[in-house]
Amino acid sequence: MADLSVVVDGLKLPNPFVIGSGPPGTNANVIGKAFDEGWGAVICKTVSLDASKVVNVQPRYGRLRAADSNEIIGWENIELISDRPFETWIDEFKQIKDKYPDRILIASIMEEFRRDEWVEIVERCQEAGVDAFECNFSCPHGLPERRMGSAMGENPEILEEVCSWVMEAAKVPVWAKMTPNVTHIEEPSRAALKAGCQGIAAINTIRSVIGVNLDTLRPEPSVEGYTTPGGYSCKAVMPIALRMCMEIATLIGKEFPGRSLSGIGGVESGKDAAQFILLGCDTVQVCTYVMKVGYRCVRAMKDELSAFMEQHKFNSIAEFKGMSLQYFTTHFDLVARQAAARRKTAATQGQSLKADGEWRGDDFVKQSDSLARG
Ligand SMILES: Cc1cc2nc3c(=O)[nH]c(=O)nc-3n(C[C@H](O)[C@H](O)[C@H](O)COP(=O)(O)O)c2cc1C
Repeated sequence: MADLSVVVDGLKLPNPFVIGSGPPGTNANVIGKAFDEGWGAVICKTVSLDASKVVNVQPRYGRLRAADSNEIIGWENIELISDRPFETWIDEFKQIKDKYPDRILIASIMEEFRRDEWVEIVERCQEAGVDAFECNFSCPHGLPERRMGSAMGENPEILEEVCSWVMEAAKVPVWAKMTPNVTHIEEPSRAALKAGCQGIAAINTIRSVIGVNLDTLRPEPSVEGYTTPGGYSCKAVMPIALRMCMEIATLIGKEFPGRSLSGIGGVESGKDAAQFILLGCDTVQVCTYVMKVGYRCVRAMKDELSAFMEQHKFNSIAEFKGMSLQYFTTHFDLVARQAAARRKTAATQGQSLKADGEWRGDDFVKQSDSLARG
């Protein structure tokens, strides 16, 4: 087995696989299960000081399946943050740290736009022994109605101010979790890093409508006949998450060297994780896949990541972190590179389509295939 251990913001993880905030980290029982199965760290379900305002509905998930295999490839949720009292969480943080003193427990926190509340939640969680914070600036449903979650994450000015309150109080590392529901994810990321956060986590779920039931004509998930747009996760979101992580990693490299990045979105295997790390992530988080298959999947993920490292003779995660970022360039540059390559080999053969005028209706799919990879 290759050495999968990582040190991120001073936190020592046995491997980079982290339980992402959500049902898989929703109480001490399941957090213990995650540690027992070998997860590198756990981020708890997002907590707030006053859980009495949090009321969930059922059903609250909608799923998209592949037509042929029936595999779940997309998952929408309209779930809120934790509905469990803050005092219960504080007791459970202590219990978990007593039982697993060497394991990394990260508190996901969220509050309204009030300095005192952010300071209080940080101080009380760190007194209970959590190892780090992830500030949830990113849930796309329910909470924005209270100017929480992605309502903050979409506004770099507010975000910078809230992050600075958190940084005043925090004695442990702080990650800011980004919403993907913005045009340029670098802007809120820059605001959080400017305020001093040690790292960025990305992405939370993508605002979505999973579908409309053609028998009832009601959009899903239907609650008493009605719904509200939710957050999309699972395998289908990974390309979007990879793009955003690439952009944040590039920003970190240019303007904030040394800060960390935790990649999230559709991770289901060690090979998926390797791709996030190649694009600059220190750790990868997994939420929906654990809901699909259970906690044991981390074993196969570790084996697959280890096999990838052995194949390329990488001795550590640090050795290949960010290695693929160098292969992004502009489209203009791609054209120039291809022209130069063709001049060199004088190769015009093998080009399946030289210009748009050559597309033909009868061979359309064949021609599309000829231009694709994968
Ligand atoms: C049912 C469900 C509940 C979630 N709850 C939270 C939450 O409380 N706080 C949070 O920061 N993210 C929450 N998330 C978002 C995940 O942590 C993660 O960012 C997102 O789902 C993408 O990763 P995935 O494809 O591995 O699930 C939730 C996701 C799901 C599916």
